Amino acid sequence: MNIESANERLRHLLDVLSSVQVRPIANGLRPKIAVQGTASVTQIQTNRYVYNQEALLKYPVPQLSKTLTKYLETVRPLLSNEDFKHAEQLVSDFQNPNSTANKLQALLEKRAAEMDNWLTDWWQRVAYLEYRMPVTVHVSPGITLPRQNFKGLEGQLSHTVPIDKLGQKPLCMSQYYQMLSTCRIPGAKRDEMVTYPGDHPKAPKHITVIHNNHFFTVPVYGSDGAQLSMKQLIGQFEHVINQSQSPAPPVGILGTDKRDNWYKAYTKMCKDKKNKQNFEEIQRSIVVLCLDKSINDNHHDEVTSMLYEMHNGSGSQCNSANRWPDKTIQVVVGPEGQIGCSCEHATAEGPPILALLEYCLPFVEKDIPESSPAPGVALPTRLDFSISPDISDMMVSSCQALDSTIQDLDLIGSKFDVFGKNVPKANKLSPDAFIQVALQLAYYRMYGHPVATYESGSLRLFHRGRTDTIRSCTSASLEYCQTMVNPNSSISEKVQKLRDAVMAHRKYTDEVIKGQGIDRHFLGLKLIALENGIDLPKLLTDPVFESSCYWQLSTSQVPTKSENILCFAPVVPDGYGVCYNPMEKSMLFAVSAWNSCPDTNAAKLYSHLKEALIDAQDILMQSQNSNL
Ligand code: COA
Repeated sequence: MNIESANERLRHLLDVLSSVQVRPIANGLRPKIAVQGTASVTQIQTNRYVYNQEALLKYPVPQLSKTLTKYLETVRPLLSNEDFKHAEQLVSDFQNPNSTANKLQALLEKRAAEMDNWLTDWWQRVAYLEYRMPVTVHVSPGITLPRQNFKGLEGQLSHTVPIDKLGQKPLCMSQYYQMLSTCRIPGAKRDEMVTYPGDHPKAPKHITVIHNNHFFTVPVYGSDGAQLSMKQLIGQFEHVINQSQSPAPPVGILGTDKRDNWYKAYTKMCKDKKNKQNFEEIQRSIVVLCLDKSINDNHHDEVTSMLYEMHNGSGSQCNSANRWPDKTIQVVVGPEGQIGCSCEHATAEGPPILALLEYCLPFVEKDIPESSPAPGVALPTRLDFSISPDISDMMVSSCQALDSTIQDLDLIGSKFDVFGKNVPKANKLSPDAFIQVALQLAYYRMYGHPVATYESGSLRLFHRGRTDTIRSCTSASLEYCQTMVNPNSSISEKVQKLRDAVMAHRKYTDEVIKGQGIDRHFLGLKLIALENGIDLPKLLTDPVFESSCYWQLSTSQVPTKSENILCFAPVVPDGYGVCYNPMEKSMLFAVSAWNSCPDTNAAKLYSHLKEALIDAQDILMQSQNSNL
């Protein structure tokens, strides 16, 4: 890459993001984002500062009887009559006064009384930090932002991030405080997270820039604490590019491997003092900026190609080693206008990460006058690693493992531009539920049976809330699918079943976001039993229960104002990952599957999904016309 094109690329998110920090406001109400031009900037960690938390609710433990009733409702469409009877029997045994159910519930309620959120630490541990598969491809989402023409400049004013709301209700903002200067560190059985808040003795004043697999510590503040001007930042990045003209060994690839392999390599490398210091520099840095090389992807369309780049770096010969996969936020900038982000998922969900990125986007597109230069700017430092022959071997095997996983990934991104949220809204239907019901129909038409489906439902109405599962396959959605494939069904029957299915989904969603979901409650009962050495109740180990959580459809809505797509991989070998961004007049989708599974096909499911959406619109229109 030449310096001129690099210069252009660097006039992007880079220095906006590089100089963005989250800080508390004096009145403790809102997290504040300070962008270039502000004076002192501090960074904080969740819980240390209270902002808006009084308005938030404490995450409850649902009543056991309600969870069990709901559980039976959710497994009903998935089970034969015989299996359902078996499930009913297990629930009844579980509710028997002699069973451990009440004891577990009481222990869970005690934990809830003693903690600010009984679930979140457990959830982070079991869902993320103890998960041993690679974070790359399997866990970390990739986000594409609108392709740029590189004419934008960065911001200069101080701004606050508005508090996210659900209707009028404020949502917990704690995830925003764990996105910057945060990193995952591989561990023996469980990884850990580190965050360096502004009052930390090692609070960072630098970002990490990766180019040609070389890592650089790039100071973004002058000696007096002022942020660098754009010209100065460009100078820093030119220096990086000059110092990394030929590719370095792919150290970054090690972090894409299974966690235990990465831990082995990491601990070996840490024996060298310089390596250890380098790791810490990367972990402490505010964000990682990946200056990618051209991807020359002839296999995929433009949208899909960008998804691959953001999600996994498109392979070891491309940009997969130009990453630090443990970093919570890696801003990726490609040479052909691609911008986006690769995110480590342990501390935050897609919506707040995208909200932060979207917040920065206007600064990219505005022409902003040059600010005065900061004094005492230190030059970037290249982080050279000492690599032993066994680490070189590990890099080779990490490259092979990642390349074969990427080859196995069947991922497509696409814009559905027939309609957007406007159609369901005009028909007084929840757009999210409408899409979920269409997904049920798409799957049913493809396979002839319903499927256990996971949709992420936000728990951010609660203090430090993350997510619970919206079980999208309901008896009502199954009836809708059966009615739609039945040639004898009338339009009015179809519309009625559609409305019933959408209502059922929205009802389940409302319960989840009010903290009355069942999956995290069951997880809590399981974990509290394990912690107290109590045998797991049969209900929670039974194949029927396990199959109800075998998420062959793993889905999530991540809405934004601009055309961004988030993508993730399926969570089971014979499943799909479906992420969508419903915009007012269009919808963006990313659908994934595994090529190694002969029964799945992302493009085919997406094609059925488009048909299901259009069919739903058609029946609504036909029904309206017949009412005229
Ligand atoms: N009639 C007309 N309009 C309706 C409607 C109805 N019956 N029901 C909803 N709408 C409107 C809403 O008012 C809203 O309007 P807006 O576009 O002006 O904001 C819009 O339709 C969207 O509502 P809906 O589709 O029902 O979804 P939602 O915004 O309530 O979101 C979830 C539902 C489940 C996606 C959301 O609650 C959630 O939990 N998101 C978290 C996702 C997450 O964490 N993902 C993790 C990814 S890593």
